[in-house]
Amino acid sequence: MEKYKIIDHEYDAIVVGAGGSGLRAAVGLSEAGLKTACISKVFPTRSHTAAAQGGISAALGNMGEDDWRWHMYDTVKGADWLGDQDAIEFLCKEAPQAVVELEKYGVPFSRTEDGKIYQRPFGGMTKNYGNGVVQRTCAAADRTGHAILHTLYGQALKKDTEFFIEYFALDLLMHNGKCHGILAWCLEDGSIHRFRANMTILATGGYGRAYFSATSAHTCTGDGGGMVLRAGLPLQDMEFVQFHPTGIYGAGCLITEGSRGEGGFLVNSEGERFMERYAPSAKDLASRDVVSRSMTIEINEGRGVGKNKDHIFLHLNHLDPKILHERLPGISESAKVFAGVDVTKEPIPVLPTVHYNMGGIPTNYHGEVLTKDQDGSEVVVEGLMSVGEAACVSVHGANRLGSNSLIDLVVFGKAAAVRAAQIVKPNSKHEKIPETETQKSLDRFDKMRNANGGTPTSVLRDKMQRTMQSKCAVFRTDKTLKEGLHEIQQPWEGMSDIKVKDKSLIFNTDLVEALEFDNLIRQSMVTVSSAENRKESRGAHSREDHKDRNDQEWMKHTLAWHTNGKVNIEYRDVHSFTLTNDVQYFPPKVRVY
Ligand code: FUM
Repeated sequence: MEKYKIIDHEYDAIVVGAGGSGLRAAVGLSEAGLKTACISKVFPTRSHTAAAQGGISAALGNMGEDDWRWHMYDTVKGADWLGDQDAIEFLCKEAPQAVVELEKYGVPFSRTEDGKIYQRPFGGMTKNYGNGVVQRTCAAADRTGHAILHTLYGQALKKDTEFFIEYFALDLLMHNGKCHGILAWCLEDGSIHRFRANMTILATGGYGRAYFSATSAHTCTGDGGGMVLRAGLPLQDMEFVQFHPTGIYGAGCLITEGSRGEGGFLVNSEGERFMERYAPSAKDLASRDVVSRSMTIEINEGRGVGKNKDHIFLHLNHLDPKILHERLPGISESAKVFAGVDVTKEPIPVLPTVHYNMGGIPTNYHGEVLTKDQDGSEVVVEGLMSVGEAACVSVHGANRLGSNSLIDLVVFGKAAAVRAAQIVKPNSKHEKIPETETQKSLDRFDKMRNANGGTPTSVLRDKMQRTMQSKCAVFRTDKTLKEGLHEIQQPWEGMSDIKVKDKSLIFNTDLVEALEFDNLIRQSMVTVSSAENRKESRGAHSREDHKDRNDQEWMKHTLAWHTNGKVNIEYRDVHSFTLTNDVQYFPPKVRVY
């Protein structure tokens, strides 16, 4: 399009997104001698990884005996058997080394008396295959993500990764099924940039903002997932949306699970520690799906607290103020600011709040994006990788264990860099692709920029978020999901009447929000359709009309495409085989790669 001058760039590899996984990938790519760019819509240290509080899991065994096989067992079980066991084996085996590497990079972990990395208990993390609680979650107070993000950004700069900050990625540049880079818009000066790359890694995070109440930053709009759907590629297991048990009532901000790891507990209006009833052994440290469902049942049965009996209390006021000060300073401050609560004296009002997307861009454990070819066989999408919450590896299956997210970021961020360095030779040529892909993306951008309809983005977004919150929630039924399918059409169709008032190109947040909405609404539609389609309960997907897990029919990954407003669903096999003979799980099979 004549009116947009395109600035061209050529890189061996580009990373879209500068959170924990994107930065770890960028460090690895740059270390491998690949000319690497990292493109981010926010300043790297403002990425959502900064909000990760409680810690990063790894069987270091600093606080008692531990074993990566126990970690693997917990992760497979926590995932409600939907995780790919080859990828889980890889994750848990690599985890200790990945944390030590972070320590060497400079992450200021909290310490034990004898100077080792401090580890706290977290939900679902056990010793000896489910026999007792283990302390496996390595912490930097309750600001672990923040510490990791700042450290990795420093490392990436040191390794000469080139940063393009406040650039909004618009679309993948695909040709003959292969990815050749992306088109992006520079928010600062309004210019359009074409990044040609022999490997593109999407590290764009989750799409929590499809929901009304989420612990996710407002920037978590699943921009990579949106680009993938527009490129005609599928997303996987999108029905599995995790609710964190302790979002601050009203504000939605996270109160770390680490607070229960340090001894906090939940109480209903009768003053009862009700988790003892639902999970007699793990109690308040049961996995998140279990705790969120139990809290919802308490509220639905009239035992919620507060004027409207619509939330639950989290007590930390029995803990030693010194422990609160040393290990939970961040959430003590959040409770004061967002709930007006002094945690040393009063309980915090909390409610299950959308926190994490188990689903995302399907990949293998090297980070390579997967799809199906015309005859239905699984194929790798050449030139395209994904890591972090944007991806579905799938190590979290139907439910992620707390503190398994940060470790996923660094283990698979590094794995993707290693694989990319095997595939891409430094300074190799860039294939010339037709201009039509660039044109298609520019047309969409221009159409959105000049949209002169009658509905502001905020109205469509509000409709989408309220539909997702009420119809695709902790508990689901055929009725709510069918209503959801119907209602979500309205904001989708409303896009044809969208109004973008600001026509400028420089820091046009009106246009950014409209483009983000385009990404969110597609993923919302895929989420509700996948949830309606899966007729069983598994992990975070809890159907009141299909209460049991049904391995016979549903032990499979959902793959969903979004084409012209319609969602098509197919399936992928779950990898219930392991990588090596070091472990044997369910069923005991090994596949040699
Ligand atoms: O509760 C938390 O600190 C969150 C951790 C996580 O989601 O991994």
